[in-house]
Amino acid sequence: MDYSAKCDSLDTVTANCAILGFHQKRKLTSAGSALDDHLGGLISKLLKRDDIEGKVGDILLINHVPDGDIERILLVGLGKKGELGPAAYRKALTTAAKLLKDSGAKLAVSLLHEPEVEGRDLGWKVRQAVEILEGSLYKFTRLKNDADDKPQRLSKLQFLLDSEDQLAEAKLGIRQGQAIANGMNIAKDLANLPGNLCTPTYLAEQAEQMGKSRKIKVRILDESDLEELNMGAFLSVSKGSEQPAKLIVMEYSGASSKAKPFVLIGKGLTFDAGGISLKPAANMDEMKYDMCGGASVIGTLSAVAELELPLNVVGLVPASENLPDGRANKPGDIVKSMSGLSIEILNTDAEGRLLLCDTLTYAKKYEPAAVVDVATLTGACIVALGRHPSGLWSNNEDLAAAVLKAGEASWDRVWRMPLWEEYQELLKSNFADVANIGGPDGGSITAACFLSRFAKEFPWAHVDIAGTAWKSGSEKGATGRPVPLLVQYLVDQAK
Ligand code: BES
Ligand code: MN
Ligand code: ZN
Repeated sequence: MDYSAKCDSLDTVTANCAILGFHQKRKLTSAGSALDDHLGGLISKLLKRDDIEGKVGDILLINHVPDGDIERILLVGLGKKGELGPAAYRKALTTAAKLLKDSGAKLAVSLLHEPEVEGRDLGWKVRQAVEILEGSLYKFTRLKNDADDKPQRLSKLQFLLDSEDQLAEAKLGIRQGQAIANGMNIAKDLANLPGNLCTPTYLAEQAEQMGKSRKIKVRILDESDLEELNMGAFLSVSKGSEQPAKLIVMEYSGASSKAKPFVLIGKGLTFDAGGISLKPAANMDEMKYDMCGGASVIGTLSAVAELELPLNVVGLVPASENLPDGRANKPGDIVKSMSGLSIEILNTDAEGRLLLCDTLTYAKKYEPAAVVDVATLTGACIVALGRHPSGLWSNNEDLAAAVLKAGEASWDRVWRMPLWEEYQELLKSNFADVANIGGPDGGSITAACFLSRFAKEFPWAHVDIAGTAWKSGSEKGATGRPVPLLVQYLVDQAK
């Protein structure tokens, strides 16, 4: 898709479709009223005929506009004037995107940024429009022979502005929106690919390829490297799999080598069967998504490089499978982590933290400005928060505030959870320094507490994306989250 912004108005442009907002009850915006007058009241007549009031989600496609340079008009309900919030705005954009992509239009012009959205500026509105349209154009059909793959007709979207001084802001919105959407698509493609195809080796190869096209230095550590580093916790998980583990290291240098890097860590379990603590069969296929953290770190690095942010950013993706096998971890096994702490593995299905703890220790060598890990870590996080926000834990107030703010700004929201000392007691082991599970209470919190033991030397945030990284049911598929969150956080740090 080609996106652009220009100063122009509806009576001078030519387009296959014009997208316009309207408010309850049937209140057109200024551009809408002008067009309505020009068309002899056609728009207001049709809204009235079909009794479309303008509630959020209401929509009307006028598919044939007689004689004119605008062939179609897509009218999008935005609720009561002056009451439009970001969530409702995104809902309206989503509805509009669905109809637009199937409308047959090739070139569309949009005025959906015209109405006020509470607390949001033009750049935000444009960026959300790009992200949402790109999201609705996304398809994962490469493994289907009979995908009814009509080529996509829609190819160009222009945002029409009324003054020159809006241009820079709109263009930045487009640029950021496209970089984020591209990063999300990379994350979605990797995540939707099944475990037999997306193995740790495949993930590493994809990261290497992306590094070439995007000027990111990529190194892959294999199992012998991990052994040399004494990553006993990480390696204990991959022992039970035929697929060799990889630690993917991506380094983007956008600032002087003296600037401390931001380190992103993404859990990369290309399939999590639970190991000897085997998961139940129902929905186990969805554990191909247990590498969504890793995929979103790869997608984020791509976006950061596309935006040429003046920062140093490191992406670390520990990748492995977790399967039952004669060589797999057994409940009660004790392993030694790279940090020296011994870990009693009471449940082999709590494997993500075993990869992450050694990767956190590895991150120390970068003397990071901050470390953010993203992981589909616990089902308990979904129980606690549902599927709208990701869970956030942090050992640093400034970092926590920055991540919360980035979540609000990008609308890829997080909700902070406690990391109190009292919870740490639940991780006591009779035989090792720490147990890998904390019992039935507060499972997402004790998982974060476990990680915190390996993140004492830098500002650190942990984002549990178990409820947000993919959708189940008829809409099953990766969401591309938390790429928007991570990119926004880094954009903010670059200011
Ligand atoms: N990858 C899972 C977490 C998960 C489960 C994410 C379901 C999304 C949906 C993780 O490795 C895991 O199995 N966690 C266990 C931890 C438990 C054994 C303490 C869980 O959540 O059940
Ligand atoms: Mn597991
Ligand atoms: Zn897992």
